[in-house]
Amino acid sequence: MTEQPSGTGASAAALVPTPVLLGDASIATPPRVPTTIAELDRVLGGGLVEGSLVLIGGEPGIGKSTLVLQALAHLSAAHDVLLVTGEESIAQVRTRAERLAVDCRGVGVVAETSLEAVVAAIETLRPTVVAVDSVQTLASDEADGAPGSVTQVRQAAAALMRAAKTHGVTVLLVGQVTKDGGLAGPRLLEHLVDTVLIFEGEETRAHRLLRAVKNRFGSTDETGLFEMRPFGLESVTDATGLFLDPTGDRVGSCAFPAVQGSRALLVEVQALVGHTEVVPPRRVAVGVDRTRLAQVIAVLTRHAGLRLGDQDVFVSVAGGVKVADPAIDLAVALAIASAHRGVPVVHGMAAFGELGLTGGVRPVGHTARRLSAVAAQGFEIAVMPRRATDAVPESPDALRRVEVDDIARALEVACAR
Ligand code: TYD
Ligand code: MG
Repeated sequence: MTEQPSGTGASAAALVPTPVLLGDASIATPPRVPTTIAELDRVLGGGLVEGSLVLIGGEPGIGKSTLVLQALAHLSAAHDVLLVTGEESIAQVRTRAERLAVDCRGVGVVAETSLEAVVAAIETLRPTVVAVDSVQTLASDEADGAPGSVTQVRQAAAALMRAAKTHGVTVLLVGQVTKDGGLAGPRLLEHLVDTVLIFEGEETRAHRLLRAVKNRFGSTDETGLFEMRPFGLESVTDATGLFLDPTGDRVGSCAFPAVQGSRALLVEVQALVGHTEVVPPRRVAVGVDRTRLAQVIAVLTRHAGLRLGDQDVFVSVAGGVKVADPAIDLAVALAIASAHRGVPVVHGMAAFGELGLTGGVRPVGHTARRLSAVAAQGFEIAVMPRRATDAVPESPDALRRVEVDDIARALEVACAR
């Protein structure tokens, strides 16, 4: 026992908090307000939780301001909402609003960059939802540094968090992220806020992906899909074929049924392999984990006899999708083998399975959903592990299942020379 500090006793007993049993029915679940934007609600886990602080990060121009304004417009049909604009003038916001297919007339807007003024507005107006665009424009009199500096951004997020919790106001915080994920991006505020959503996509394509990287009120598996249209962002509900190259049958390409949350998505893994004098050769991964790529290359070298020691290997998932699912290994391996050998994989084929270091193709989950996604896209052959971690139903009609035990066999069936 450590020595009791002086002045304890009766006064200390008065400080003891009373525990609540988790089984207690009186613990209320905080209510949710659906934004009625299907893909946003999907990522949030069913809507905005009252009194929560949601950070929406993304590179400039990706569509953060558009998404936030659309969400407020939808919410304004039944709730009081407030947009705090620090980056754009009210006239600029109005110009954007006029483009959008949704009615924005009920959205209240203030052009404000003083943190104290924003907090006062929240306390006085008590909107159901307030959006601040962006956190980098706010400055407090009580903190040092210019707007956007680490101190100012932290101060702003903390003050808004307090206001949100105290008054049950939901706060949407827009955060600019630079190309290198830099200053005042989600990293800096991640521990403070309840939810971090990242908005991403490729500049050259209209599709946008919204991912939760942190969610105190839901899963982080879900991905929201949008298309940027002349009249705003549109939810994409059927995404099965969105990220596939319609021409198909290219050297270095392999289709993969990815499972992200409640959705199965067919994506295209692309590989480029070429001789290099650079030592060590380049291994570049876009949309897949770099370490996994290195591992797949090692397995191909050791267990399938591919000579990749003096070859640059580039692998990318088309359309800016990021896949964390280890089942992508087999498709990555087949795309690399196809690129290396200069022959396309078998026509109408998709592949999934995790690769073990010993060259085995290991079982993965969600087999049934993967197979139906593959069949729905008109593919004829699924190259896959022999065993599954879950129950596997009958194959959908017209889909041939080729079950493989190891990478050597997978190459024989998928990409023979
Ligand atoms: P914006 O929401 O301003 O991005 P962010 O706030 O993340 O910087 O959106 C920027 C781009 O979206 C801009 O290049 C124009 C385009 N856009 C459309 O294509 N359609 C639209 O209806 C709107 C409002 C914007
Ligand atoms: Mg903006």
